[in-house]
Amino acid sequence: MDKLIITGGTRLEGEIRISGAKNAALPILAAALLADEPVTVCNLPHLHDITTMIELFGCMGVELLIDEKMNVEVHASTIKHLTAPYELVKTMRASILVLGPLLARFGRAEVALPGGCAIGSRPVDLHIRGLEAMGADIVVEDGYIKASMKDRLKGARIFFDTVTVTGTENILMAAALADGESILENAAREPEVVDLAECLIRMGAKIEGHGTDTIRVQGVERLHGCSYSVLPDRIETGTYLIAAAATGGKIKVKDTRPDIIDSILIKLQEAGADVQWGDDWITLDMHGKRPKAISLKTAPYPAMPTDIQAQFTALNAVAEGTGKITETVFENRFMHVLEMKRMGAQMDIEGNTAISTGVTNLKAAPVMATDLRASASLVIAGLLAEGDTVVDRIYHIDRGYECIEEKLQLLGAKIRRVPS
Ligand code: EPU
Repeated sequence: MDKLIITGGTRLEGEIRISGAKNAALPILAAALLADEPVTVCNLPHLHDITTMIELFGCMGVELLIDEKMNVEVHASTIKHLTAPYELVKTMRASILVLGPLLARFGRAEVALPGGCAIGSRPVDLHIRGLEAMGADIVVEDGYIKASMKDRLKGARIFFDTVTVTGTENILMAAALADGESILENAAREPEVVDLAECLIRMGAKIEGHGTDTIRVQGVERLHGCSYSVLPDRIETGTYLIAAAATGGKIKVKDTRPDIIDSILIKLQEAGADVQWGDDWITLDMHGKRPKAISLKTAPYPAMPTDIQAQFTALNAVAEGTGKITETVFENRFMHVLEMKRMGAQMDIEGNTAISTGVTNLKAAPVMATDLRASASLVIAGLLAEGDTVVDRIYHIDRGYECIEEKLQLLGAKIRRVPS
């Protein structure tokens, strides 16, 4: 298992390009299962989670063509098995995204029930209930969600009790091939849901209202092939901007989308950053200053993403003043706080809030990541610490950050990967 060794104390400076969004690429790949012609997905990030999805397609017998730019052409009609096995689902919960498409297109699906994970219990009851409302027969047996239907899924009105990103995506994909109209209420408004809807529309789906909390879908009998380029990763964008702000640095991120990260840019400005942007780039300059502590509360889009909470917590660890970070999406997403305390951060958790008083310097320590975004926050903490920080279990990082050490090196960071 690889480790990252980071020698802290360098201000990040330079330019990097942002990769395609993991959380848009995964549902878009799943959506390709709905088409009766090849679908080509472009701007895919080179990440373990994408490889896992490709491996899952391999298990199902779906033929894929991958070119040197990592554009993937999916031939769903070659499918042989309608099962997502536990071995893959346990390494990537997003495998649940094949449930809706398999059922809608092939009438049957068996997907291992994802268990809890490091950030919370994460049930999938809303995915199941939505499909049942569309006429699917679903039983949970032997650790698998076994879904089938007699004829074709029927359009339905579905109200999500909780805003769920992959839940909305699963039902949206199923509704695209259902018989009649579906109305998804209290739907997720995340840009990744919008990107999926745009891809489905390019495949011939009839969808309106994506990006609002009410999505209307007129089911169609078939979806055709298309080529679609995944949107840039807003969480990767935010992670590098926060890392730069925390180190008092000056960076430019290119091939990104400033219009979908308002909540993050506003907090960076509150932290004292000079932030400018154009259509597809953002610059951040701290003019060498120490950041000011910020307070935030995570919530579904357009509010502050839970996936950027840990990174802002790292910034607060060295910021001037007191910051309060409240997590409302997942019940157990503060494992990084305990690791940062081992590096000298002054932080306490009260209920679902991490309260910090910034220190001028963190001290290097061996730390261990428990999930993807916590790992990213520990890398940021390492950039801020005196000495060599060793971040263990970085397979989490490789699930979601393309070439993180190369990109940080381009920004001047002293970071290297070593096998343990
Ligand atoms: N929830 C339920 N029942 C359900 C589904 C969700 O109670 O059937 C609850 C969850 O337990 C949670 C809340 O609803 O408390 C929101 O969870 P959501 O379903 O939106 O999360 P997700 O779809 O499983 C996606 C991202 C996560 C991101 C969350 C929140 C993908 C592949 N994953 O997960 O990304 O944190 O939305 O924005 O899109 C990451 O990239 O590191 C990551 C964890």
